[in-house]
Amino acid sequence: MNAVLHLAAVSRIHGEGATEVHALRSVTFRAHPGELVAVMGPSGSGKSTLLTLAGGLDVPTSGSVWIEGTDLASLDNAGRARIRRTSVGYVFQDFNLIPALTAAENVALPRELDGEKGRVARRLALTALEEVGIADLADRFPDEMSGGQQQRVAIARAIVGDRRLILADEPTGALDTDTGEEILRLLRARCDAGAAGVMVTHEARHAAWADRVVFLRDGVIVDETGADEPEGLLAGEVGR
Ligand SMILES: Nc1ncnc2c1ncn2[C@@H]1O[C@H](COP(=O)(O)OP(=O)(O)OP(=O)(O)O)[C@@H](O)[C@H]1O
Ligand SMILES: [Mg+2]
Repeated sequence: MNAVLHLAAVSRIHGEGATEVHALRSVTFRAHPGELVAVMGPSGSGKSTLLTLAGGLDVPTSGSVWIEGTDLASLDNAGRARIRRTSVGYVFQDFNLIPALTAAENVALPRELDGEKGRVARRLALTALEEVGIADLADRFPDEMSGGQQQRVAIARAIVGDRRLILADEPTGALDTDTGEEILRLLRARCDAGAAGVMVTHEARHAAWADRVVFLRDGVIVDETGADEPEGLLAGEVGR
């Protein structure tokens, strides 16, 4: 099966000389359709770096990043921006909604930026909001919603228009336990529907929703569990 995301020997060095930081060291990683992968590791181990490179928000020092068969290095800035809007959905820890826009407008924005007519973009936005269970809040502004509702809007924005790669950096970090579980359930459902998901998390309980867990330490993948391990870390855990 073709990977939706393929990082091939990707390294990212910040700074130069004495202040050089090797945030990622020759990491090779794939995420396939239908698969949710959890990324775990200590603070500073390179988790967010992996996600920003995977989403084309940053460029590797060496190695290559492929999304749905396209090498991001073969694209100019406009091409990368386009693939980010059409193929990649990004969910941040702190929601990152635009306060002056309603829920529906926040979700419709990536489609409108991509040239979709306002009416069509709104219809797609309402469908995505329905998928995450808050179609009735479409015309509310972010400050009129709870944290969990705001994160649902952020997830709707990440999946609108059927994007195939969902990247989430501690998407439950700012939420209470029950609300966090709801958000994971939505990510899981989206992957079950065919998207590839990569989620950074600190909590093993949340990683239990994933098919596979990748552990990073000092910019290197030190362990991988799930998929072909019958008695893996995830066997027997709650949440599936
Ligand atoms: N723009 C930058 N300039 C310099 N160093 C950076 C930059 N971004 C990240 N780093 C460094 O790269 C390393 C990896 O950072 P990264 O943010 O990927 O870690 P993380 O695993 O997401 O950590 P956390 O769990 O705290 O979010 C760290 O040592 C960090 O200080
Ligand atoms: Mg981080």
